[in-house]
Amino acid sequence: MASSPSKHHISHSLNGFTTPAKRTKLSFISDSEIQSEFSHHDQTIARINNGSFGSCPQSVISAQQNLQLQFLRQPDNFYFNTLKPSILHSRSLIKSLVNAHSVDEISLVDNATTAAAIVLQNCAWGFNEGRFSKGDVAVMLHYAYGSVKKSVQAYVTRAGGEVIEVHLPFPVASKEEIVSEFRKALARGKENGKKKVRLAVIDHVTSMPSVVIPVKELVKICREEGVDQVFVDAAHGIGCVDVDVRDIGADFYTSNLHKWFFCPPSVAFLYCRKRGEEGKGGDLHHPVVSHEYGNGLAVESAWIGTRDYSAQLVVPAVLEFINRFEGGIEGIKKRNHEKVVEMGEMLVKAWGTNLGSPPEMCASMIMVGLPACLGISNDPDTLKLRSHLREHFQVEVPIYFRAPVDGEVDSITGYARISHQVYNKVEDYYRFRDAVNQLVSDGFTCASLSN
Ligand SMILES: Cc1ncc(COP(=O)(O)O)c(C=O)c1O
Repeated sequence: MASSPSKHHISHSLNGFTTPAKRTKLSFISDSEIQSEFSHHDQTIARINNGSFGSCPQSVISAQQNLQLQFLRQPDNFYFNTLKPSILHSRSLIKSLVNAHSVDEISLVDNATTAAAIVLQNCAWGFNEGRFSKGDVAVMLHYAYGSVKKSVQAYVTRAGGEVIEVHLPFPVASKEEIVSEFRKALARGKENGKKKVRLAVIDHVTSMPSVVIPVKELVKICREEGVDQVFVDAAHGIGCVDVDVRDIGADFYTSNLHKWFFCPPSVAFLYCRKRGEEGKGGDLHHPVVSHEYGNGLAVESAWIGTRDYSAQLVVPAVLEFINRFEGGIEGIKKRNHEKVVEMGEMLVKAWGTNLGSPPEMCASMIMVGLPACLGISNDPDTLKLRSHLREHFQVEVPIYFRAPVDGEVDSITGYARISHQVYNKVEDYYRFRDAVNQLVSDGFTCASLSN
């Protein structure tokens, strides 16, 4: 994935913003340097699943270890003199990358799960403190991430809210299908004019099946329809899709930094749009309360007790890594997209199946139909097949079960979600292709795998 050397000045445009890393380069990172940055990966595995846990290059791991040692060497000095300004620096870099208005709008938290808890806890208080009425609604996608669905249940349903799910077709052919289903769900939410839709939770890129959601259009519809607040769950946001939080226009937007942005686990940002006097993140609070309670979400989140904060501090090292690639993060994103589409098309051609979405509805992950003869007939089958591929073919790839719709015969019931990240090679996908071809020619079916 490396590009040819250049002696030109490089202007790294990140979501339309030029980063401070504008400088002269003699050469971009080479293929062998990329492989060396990821040499800690298990080299026996074709890892085509960056989407689940992300990846972190060696130079960033070294920077993190250095910070961990600094803390252990003299914790008091680190706490009093390094931690706060370093977190602020990371926040301000993220603020520029995602085009937030102010650094106060950006908090660093552990992960998208924590960000969801912050937003949903706020919604629960709306019910508990009597600002919302019993039966008021939260809308979310049927394909919302499992843990986020559970959080909605824990915070919203339990507090008296009603949850309406937006049913999405899969395979999906166009973004209009999603927009139309979203409008229907909002209309259900507002039935009789008695209920109010208090919160819409919208994924930017759904996890399983993976599809890029037209978030900007859906946020606009929410505004037109009088939805109180919109939370975008973009666990696969920064480094995977364009993130301009002002342009998207949601109230809250979270993205992991450890999935597609090369940070080590675990760190995410949560953007909370500044509104008037509430300023520093409104009345949101971190669910883990410590000394900074009441000082604004970003400050609260920067100290939630003694722990390892190093993942939050390596953002400058990550940018150094990213800026070794032609076009910086924009270039990485574009090449990952092109490559994953090419690999997806190669696989469906080899297997006589189809993609789960048109290429423009995917970013760095794409859903690839598996041959129907593999007999994937429920969710447990997907896990069994995934383990089988790992253990017998050294391929790591998640699989989705799609129940046949009434009347369908011999339809595709299994889709693999393939990812592409800078370390991937075409051989990784060939190994997956050949493994499936082998299973098919052996007459394998999931029924043959024990539980
Ligand atoms: C859409 C979505 N939301 C939330 C999450 C949770 O992310 P994390 O486990 O980093 O909190 C994921 C993880 O894959 C995801 O895909």
